[in-house]
Amino acid sequence: MSGAVELMAGRPRAKGLQRSQREALVEVGKFAALLAHEVRNPLTAIRIDLQRVEEKLPPESPLRLQLARALREVERLDQTVSGALRIARSGTVSSDLVDLRVPLLRAIEVATPAFDQVDATLAVRGLDDAPVPVRGDEAALEQLFLNLLLNAAQALRPHGAAGVILMATNGHADVEVWDRGIGIDADKLGRVFDPFYSTRKEGTGLGLAIARGIVTGHGGRIGIESRPGEGTAISIRLPLAR
Ligand SMILES: Nc1ncnc2c1ncn2[C@@H]1O[C@H](COP(=O)(O)OP(=O)(O)OP(=O)(O)O)[C@@H](O)[C@H]1O
Ligand SMILES: [Mg+2]
Repeated sequence: MSGAVELMAGRPRAKGLQRSQREALVEVGKFAALLAHEVRNPLTAIRIDLQRVEEKLPPESPLRLQLARALREVERLDQTVSGALRIARSGTVSSDLVDLRVPLLRAIEVATPAFDQVDATLAVRGLDDAPVPVRGDEAALEQLFLNLLLNAAQALRPHGAAGVILMATNGHADVEVWDRGIGIDADKLGRVFDPFYSTRKEGTGLGLAIARGIVTGHGGRIGIESRPGEGTAISIRLPLAR
């Protein structure tokens, strides 16, 4: 099994998790497989039908707006299922030598429109320095950072500020994703990593559950600090590759 990182809880590398957390993630995996089976295929059929109707509509038809909205919602559902599926499938992923700056920069690139949307600034520190080598799965690491960045963007008020800090010291890489957004009430902080816990209307509540799975799968740790009305900081520590 060498050359592979275990991401999925319930398998050996997830032993750093508490039993209840591990069980919760295993439940997510089962649920994801069920969702995929029950939702994916009909969703594809719906999309194809909607597209056929769209093609037949005259260009000026007012129904086009509604159709476009329906198609967007189908797309969103599909993404939700894909996210859940990623957990279910993530039992074993590659263990490549990755410069942590690469997935981090990609995630920043993908998340930038979300910050632009609220006219927010994203301050980036520590990414011009030397390479930060870790062992792991580049795509999963990008997903991890994207989930955190999107949460930060979604927590911001207009013209808010957020940032990313990368540091490598004493055998580990530290990444902090912070925002001066709405923050999280103390009594809710313990639940944010739970699968399907969400306070957002459009949220699936999988973002941080996946993030935690990816971090522990890479032999790392993830922590959160938050103050309502002031902001939130997520800290990740990953072992540096030797
Ligand atoms: N940076 C943040 N600031 C404020 N609240 C946050 C932040 N990150 C997470 N949360 C809280 O934790 C909840 C869970 O986050 P998570 O990313 O798992 O799910 P989500 O963002 O609601 O949905 P999804 O990521 O699946 O689209 C959020 O609904 C929100 O209440
Ligand atoms: Mg999220």
